[in-house]
Amino acid sequence: MNARTTNNSSAEDALITIENLEFGFSRELIFKGMSLIIPRGKVTAIMGPSGCGKSTLLGLIGGRLKPKRGSINFAGRRVDKARGKNLYALRREMGMLFQNSALLTDLDTFENIAFPLREQTALPEEIIRIIVKMKLELVGLRGAAELQPAELSGGMARRVALARAIALDPRLVMYDEPFVGLDPISMGVIVKLIRELNDALSLTSVVVTHDVQEGLSIADYVYILGDQNVLGHGTASEIQNSEDPMVRQFIQGLPDGPVPYQYPANPYADDLRHD
Ligand SMILES: Nc1ncnc2c1ncn2[C@@H]1O[C@H](COP(=O)(O)OP(=O)(O)OP(=O)(O)O)[C@@H](O)[C@H]1O
Ligand SMILES: [Mg+2]
Repeated sequence: MNARTTNNSSAEDALITIENLEFGFSRELIFKGMSLIIPRGKVTAIMGPSGCGKSTLLGLIGGRLKPKRGSINFAGRRVDKARGKNLYALRREMGMLFQNSALLTDLDTFENIAFPLREQTALPEEIIRIIVKMKLELVGLRGAAELQPAELSGGMARRVALARAIALDPRLVMYDEPFVGLDPISMGVIVKLIRELNDALSLTSVVVTHDVQEGLSIADYVYILGDQNVLGHGTASEIQNSEDPMVRQFIQGLPDGPVPYQYPANPYADDLRHD
């Protein structure tokens, strides 16, 4: 664990700097004055209860959503200000693994990974072949190039999606819930792959997960979101040993504590009574 990986790390350690972010789909805000730093070269986990805005944050970093206030800086450029060609260029530096893998069902494994290369580059076919084979080798699926998505297990499909996310050699890879629906062994494979790809390819990785144990096991640095802001942040061990009641409530999965239920319910006994 690197001691410099804190929220106070100097600007050159940051790949992404978010300051005073304010965002809402309606008048109700999801983020209110939120600031955070994604350290370069590290795996950062973004955790927090369902609906707190984790996927929304990835949309803002990718420039798909625009903040009402504040700034989002990616490698020295303002994502929130970028439009058209500039935004397109920024996005090419970011790979995204969507929840549910989102493979194109009428293309085989090879073509799914070749897709972004064909769409976004003018590379000749023989180079595309080499790149796709290299990406497949990285996720251990070079032998599965000709399989259709329907022939892949959930864990394999996730690995193909991972290979596709890194097809264009991005600097940043964002993973939205990469562990959902996987058995423990496939989950372990994905955890290991995210770490290995990050380190071997000198990437920066952002992993959105509500799986606390997987998040803590994979991340160098952790943010816990909630209450329109960052509830807590630190290295995985700092978070694990945190005395902060909000962080503890989340980490221990306690239903009751300083963070209120988002959808309060009547007392259970009242709901069960018929009168
Ligand atoms: N396109 C949209 N239009 C309107 N509201 C949206 C839209 N997308 C998300 N929201 C709302 O914004 C809030 C944050 O959603 P978001 O998907 O970012 O949460 P999340 O933390 O990723 O949750 P989960 O863990 O369940 O995936 C939720 O209240 C959600 O209903
Ligand atoms: Mg989400």
